[in-house]
Amino acid sequence: MTESIAPFFKNELGTKPEAVSRAPGRLEILGNHTDYNEGLVLSAAVGQATEFAIRRKPGRKCTMRDFRDGSTVEFDLDHIETPVRGDWTNYVKGVIVQLRKRGHEIGAFDGAILSTVPLSAGMSSSAALEISACFAFSKVFGIKLDGSEWARLGQAVENQYMGVGTGLLDQFSSIYGKKDSLIYCDFRTVNVLRTVKMPSGFVIVVANSMIKHNLVDSEYNERRASCENAARILKKTYPEVNALRDVSPEMLENASKSLAKRDYMRAAHVVGENDRVIRGVSALERGDIAAFGKMLYESHQSSMSNFENSCPELDCLVELSTSLPGCAGARLSGGGFGGISIHLVEAATAQEYCERLKTAYRLRTGKETETIVCSIGDGASVT
Ligand code: GLA
Repeated sequence: MTESIAPFFKNELGTKPEAVSRAPGRLEILGNHTDYNEGLVLSAAVGQATEFAIRRKPGRKCTMRDFRDGSTVEFDLDHIETPVRGDWTNYVKGVIVQLRKRGHEIGAFDGAILSTVPLSAGMSSSAALEISACFAFSKVFGIKLDGSEWARLGQAVENQYMGVGTGLLDQFSSIYGKKDSLIYCDFRTVNVLRTVKMPSGFVIVVANSMIKHNLVDSEYNERRASCENAARILKKTYPEVNALRDVSPEMLENASKSLAKRDYMRAAHVVGENDRVIRGVSALERGDIAAFGKMLYESHQSSMSNFENSCPELDCLVELSTSLPGCAGARLSGGGFGGISIHLVEAATAQEYCERLKTAYRLRTGKETETIVCSIGDGASVT
């Protein structure tokens, strides 16, 4: 673990931190909007991470510094029950509130973060912040929860404190990521089914649409309601259905007439994604990169036409990838409605691919895209 935050902390606060945690951002490789439908996702933790340094202190007042911009936010442990609009420490306060609900009180502290996870870009900077706070608190306040409980606590921050109905994917991947591997996650049993090696000779390139992805203001909750509604109606035909996870493509087709058109389209995306994750994992395991890449494109197509969570910028980035050498497949990744696309690209030409994509995107749209050749890292840790 690189503890790059510790010297900043010492410099600024005159004393060493008691603990430093590190939680990475995540990439959803395949399996879009399947997590809250108790489904399957192939994801990864990235090399970019948030570090959280902490030192306890007496009293009730806490400080949180952001070493990226030098700002400091103060709050009182007795006044954190409701989030403050636009305050990044909401994700830290939310963790404290959720710990309290579970019977764990924490004392005052000076905390600080340093992060390389891009903000509002679909790599889940908020989950990285939540999980880094969780692991820092666990260390200095002696709170013992297992990984999936920490993930649920982080999710509860989003669902109950921030008011966004997101699934478990982001926090779970930030905790369970494995270096150079993809993790095959089951969100019914909430565990990692197995890890799948990144195809050798390939990397993930992230191309940012630069369209601000803000789940709080997005249609995420509406999509989720539609999926849950579809599952409820399908249960009338198939009593064994408790979530879209239980619906096969054939079942959906047989019962399609019972669903409103919009709910049918949303369900078709999720059912198709679950199926693609299963087929995608076996394609990777037999080394069939071309088949896997095709599934990435199919996933994007389904986002465009069924789930309607893409945007013209993401569509353009994905389309351009088909005309550039070295790319096996691409799709939007994460919540959608902006944010990022991921591209599975031959490692040897990844830098060149990024340059070509930027130029082609500029020529086509007059706009800029930012690209990152991502490394795949381990999940969260604390020292
Ligand atoms: C966001 C949410 C996740 C997941 C993805 C879509 O990242 O936070 O829980 O639903 O969107 O797959």
